[in-house]
Amino acid sequence: MSYTAAADRYSKMQYRRSGKSGIMLPAISLGLWQNFGEPDDMNVFRQTLHTAFDNGITHFDLANNYGPPAGEAEINFGKVFKQDFTAYRDEMLISTKAGYYMWPGPYGEWGSKKYLVSSLDQSLKRMGLEYVDIFYHHRPDPNTPLEESMAALDLIVRQGKALYAGISNYPADKAAAAFKILQQLGTPCLIHQPKYSMLERWVEKKNDAVNKNLLEVVDESGVGCIVFSPLAQGLLTDKYLKGIPADSRVGRKLPNGALTENGLNESVLHKVAALNELAKKRNQTMAQMAIAWLLKDQRITSVLVGASSSAQLLNSIAAVNNIDFTAEELYAIEEILK
Ligand SMILES: NC(=O)c1ccc[n+]([C@@H]2O[C@H](COP(=O)([O-])OP(=O)(O)OC[C@H]3O[C@@H](n4cnc5c(N)ncnc54)[C@H](OP(=O)(O)O)[C@@H]3O)[C@@H](O)[C@H]2O)c1
Repeated sequence: MSYTAAADRYSKMQYRRSGKSGIMLPAISLGLWQNFGEPDDMNVFRQTLHTAFDNGITHFDLANNYGPPAGEAEINFGKVFKQDFTAYRDEMLISTKAGYYMWPGPYGEWGSKKYLVSSLDQSLKRMGLEYVDIFYHHRPDPNTPLEESMAALDLIVRQGKALYAGISNYPADKAAAAFKILQQLGTPCLIHQPKYSMLERWVEKKNDAVNKNLLEVVDESGVGCIVFSPLAQGLLTDKYLKGIPADSRVGRKLPNGALTENGLNESVLHKVAALNELAKKRNQTMAQMAIAWLLKDQRITSVLVGASSSAQLLNSIAAVNNIDFTAEELYAIEEILK
């Protein structure tokens, strides 16, 4: 069956400007870290991509190492793209990244120009794309000069292999330095991608080297902020409150940093149960409240969710309908999270 996108798709989503750039991102973006690899069902993830686009999600986030195995998510995305989305390329914002281990030897990970340029070439081949919209350095490299990694991003943009540059997982001080170098090179950083959720608050903590937290640094630098794992990989939903469903991320025992049973201790489940009651009072699901809690901050350009089904994604998208919190609700959330 061929795919035609829903005509009313842009009326269903809110869009936010990424820093001081020309780019608007959907308040909710879809990430392909999990659920788009070899063990996953093509019919399910194809449908999930349709649901995303039909509901105004224009941004799809990948990386060289997403799968499993590494590279497989890009291959699978490329297949669906070729089948269904070629006509919509100019309506889509596709990103990929390099930084983590991809191939053996000294040029297969971290932040050298050699690695970043060749990894993006491989990603473009796997996806069957001529360019990506955003190319990220996936993690800071303690051994490569920051100037070299940023020069690689600048080169890639000048070559037209990516339209914009981004960084991910950089602490506030390194991010500030990276933004400055990119600005000087004439390729301003479009966006930073940190982990942020009710259970992971590092972006709010002051970085002593710059006396600011990451959210302040991106805001002052005119850089956007797209936050990943907003549901703490599913922990910030009601799914683990009555045991471990077999088809959940924990139940499936996925490799490479996916949530495991170790992440489900009594204390955190107790907090989620209390948050879940608060979400019910707001007429939201736990997942929706966790996403809304991030979107209440206008410095957050987009919340980057994962989804193992279309139904889940639809549930998450509906979070945009209520992102206002009373002072009492915010206080209650902080008390629960203490
Ligand atoms: N830059 C980086 O270093 C980095 C690192 C990690 C992720 N990311 C990006 O961030 C994206 C999202 O990460 P993530 O998958 O960890 O995000 P997440 O949204 O925190 O977790 C997604 C998982 O939560 C569950 N879920 C999603 N929506 C739900 C809903 N409405 N109700 C109930 N359960 C729901 C599903 O789990 P089940 O599978 O159990 O159904 C889904 O697989 C990735 O795909 C990737 O693009 C970036």
